[in-house]
Amino acid sequence: MTGRVAGKVAFITGAARGQGRSHAVRLAKEGADIIAVDICSEIPDVPYSPATSEDLKETVALVEALDRRIIATEVDVRDLDALRWTVDRAVAELGHLDIIVANAGVCIPAAWNAVTPQVFDETIEINVRGAWNTVMVGAPYLVEAGGGSVIIISSAAGLKVQPFMVPYTTSKFAVRGMAKAFAAELAKHHIRVNSVHPTGVNTAMMSEGLLAALNPAIENDPRLGGMFTNLLPVDHTESEDISDTVLFLASDESKYMTAHELAPDAGVTEF
Ligand SMILES: NC(=O)c1ccc[n+]([C@@H]2O[C@H](COP(=O)([O-])OP(=O)(O)OC[C@H]3O[C@@H](n4cnc5c(N)ncnc54)[C@H](O)[C@@H]3O)[C@@H](O)[C@H]2O)c1
Repeated sequence: MTGRVAGKVAFITGAARGQGRSHAVRLAKEGADIIAVDICSEIPDVPYSPATSEDLKETVALVEALDRRIIATEVDVRDLDALRWTVDRAVAELGHLDIIVANAGVCIPAAWNAVTPQVFDETIEINVRGAWNTVMVGAPYLVEAGGGSVIIISSAAGLKVQPFMVPYTTSKFAVRGMAKAFAAELAKHHIRVNSVHPTGVNTAMMSEGLLAALNPAIENDPRLGGMFTNLLPVDHTESEDISDTVLFLASDESKYMTAHELAPDAGVTEF
């Protein structure tokens, strides 16, 4: 078998669609088997359409079409026990685990004074606690394997403040710190931990629903609207562009990179 991650097994959260699906397909194309999880259901307050069971089945079909194995399960990353049960079973079947991609997340924009306690808690529970749960259930297998790569999907909003999303920005700075903290303690096991910080990506998250929530907030303080501008002359990136970075971090090409932030951000964080 050939490929940049040939023979490895990757555990990816939020894999039903968007960037998570793209990472699953790209890593499979390069020889990895996949453990995919997604909630596949509506989450209160999220202003764009939810992923569905059909979406997750499509990810399965795409990976299987590449002749790779995939075990896909509908599970909420907030549920530590269910996540552990899922990963334990999948690793028992696939033999080992080498790569973790903590990708599941939500974004619920609003002006600072329109954020409810529920939205704040929900964002932190999914984006931060969910990422922690993901690493906690997967990392023991990387220790057992004698090494591996953990990739935590943050955002440009985890490097530079992005306005009108206090809970999201808080969560994405938090997981950037989480990656560094895990990197320190897991290094002795040859496990690398890095965070990825995309600019806007063309997925359901960046849909009209999200813009409809964001635009009134921008109208309230138009000076800050410019903070979303990329240096490169592109409005957004595609999921596959982010998969390039994820594949690099998953592969041995980045074997001496750990505790770093990689930013496929089109320069937005310097604008
Ligand atoms: N789209 C962007 O502009 C952008 C930019 C920077 C960073 N990101 C980050 O990239 C990651 C992927 O987002 P995307 O753009 O593919 O959006 P998306 O909404 O298409 O995908 C996110 C996936 O996560 C799943 N998910 C959400 N909550 C979950 C939970 N509690 N348990 C399990 N699965 C859950 C969703 O069902 C969905 O399939 C997120 O962490 C997001 O914050 C997105």
